[in-house]
Amino acid sequence: MSRKRVAVLISGRGSNMAALIEAAKDKNYPAEIALVLSNRPDAGGLDTAKSNGIATAVVDHTKYGKDRAAFDAAVQAVLVQNKIELVALAGFMRLLTAGFVDQWPERMINIHPALLPAFKGLDTHQRALDAGAKVHGATVHFVVPEMDAGPIIVQGAVNVHAGDIEAALAKRVLAVEHRIYPLALKLVAEDRVRVANGRCLIDGAPVPDAGALTPSD
Ligand code: GRF
Repeated sequence: MSRKRVAVLISGRGSNMAALIEAAKDKNYPAEIALVLSNRPDAGGLDTAKSNGIATAVVDHTKYGKDRAAFDAAVQAVLVQNKIELVALAGFMRLLTAGFVDQWPERMINIHPALLPAFKGLDTHQRALDAGAKVHGATVHFVVPEMDAGPIIVQGAVNVHAGDIEAALAKRVLAVEHRIYPLALKLVAEDRVRVANGRCLIDGAPVPDAGALTPSD
């Protein structure tokens, strides 16, 4: 089995990146984490990647001023140099240009801490609480130029408890993220995900965890 070469793009602590690294330690996992790239030299996740023997790169966005296209071109050059086949955004806090996104059609995925299409953007957990949502969760989707709008691959949900606070809800959602991101990357790396009319269809055996409410949550 040839494993797909994946780059994980991060900006911070990289706990989702770590979940992908752990999953890829299984030799039967269809992807290898070939590169971790950060736009911030001080991202904590870089140390985790290095301690797992994974190549790292930094493309510091502050060196590019307002020129997003030049920043994206520098990222693209590193991805090409490393023969990357799939890109996984994991807490990568930069908006990407359409020109960049269009070079990774159905080959770039993102994890968002909400049940899309609800709560796009930032502060998702507090906004879910403020809205009185009874269920909340996380989504892995293909990246398209519009933010948080691409076809949904996998979702995982948690119940919102009476009296929940943001930190507690975020913690439960993060545990779901760590479960669904490796699952989604696996499905994409196995070429099992097809997009038709803006929706993902998953080929092969049913995927029981692809939209799961964790019973204990
Ligand atoms: C996660 O909540 C992810 O859904 C969002 O950014 C956060 C990154 O956390 N896109 P980590 O760096 O993976 O720990």
